[in-house]
Amino acid sequence: MRYKSLLAVSALVGAGAVFAVGGSSGAKAENDPVYVVQDGRVDQHTFNGYRRYGESCHRCHGPDGSGSSYAPSLTESLKKMSFEDFSNVIVNGRQNVTKSQNNVMPAFGTTEDVILYLDDIYGYLKARSDDKLPRGRPKRLGDDS
Ligand code: HEC
Repeated sequence: MRYKSLLAVSALVGAGAVFAVGGSSGAKAENDPVYVVQDGRVDQHTFNGYRRYGESCHRCHGPDGSGSSYAPSLTESLKKMSFEDFSNVIVNGRQNVTKSQNNVMPAFGTTEDVILYLDDIYGYLKARSDDKLPRGRPKRLGDDS
């Protein structure tokens, strides 16, 4: 319940911040969060997504969403995954029991640092997935360096 209302709020915030829409491939619903990349530079949301990814997901999913021997490449996953499916996996976690390996995607449903910024994380990964962002730390719009 609580999560649902959080998502509704963040979807509204996300929609208000849009001024350039990225993301056309894959299953995309109208209210999916979007990213902004202009001349190779990202907006605050996308940059925040990069930072949050680094803090909470990188250790399993590898640098820049590229995957590891333990967890799948999220730049690949987002070519097919809707924001709703993405959110469900992160809130509830998932365990692949069909493989010989027993790799676990933890549930982040009570981790505010992740749940509050799900649309930023999705936006960042979607930009990577759409090939709009190179690997590494993105430059920010309005930054001189
Ligand atoms: C402890 C390691 C670990 C961490 C940390 C982790 N994941 Fe995962 N994740 C996995 C594993 C392993 C799978 C594959 C599980 C399966 O197939 O059942 C997975 C699966 C996923 C999937 C589904 C991919 C697909 O193609 O179906 C998504 C989306 C995902 N993770 C997003 C995230 C995000 C976003 C974060 C950071 C907030 C994160 N994960 C943090 C291990 C992790």
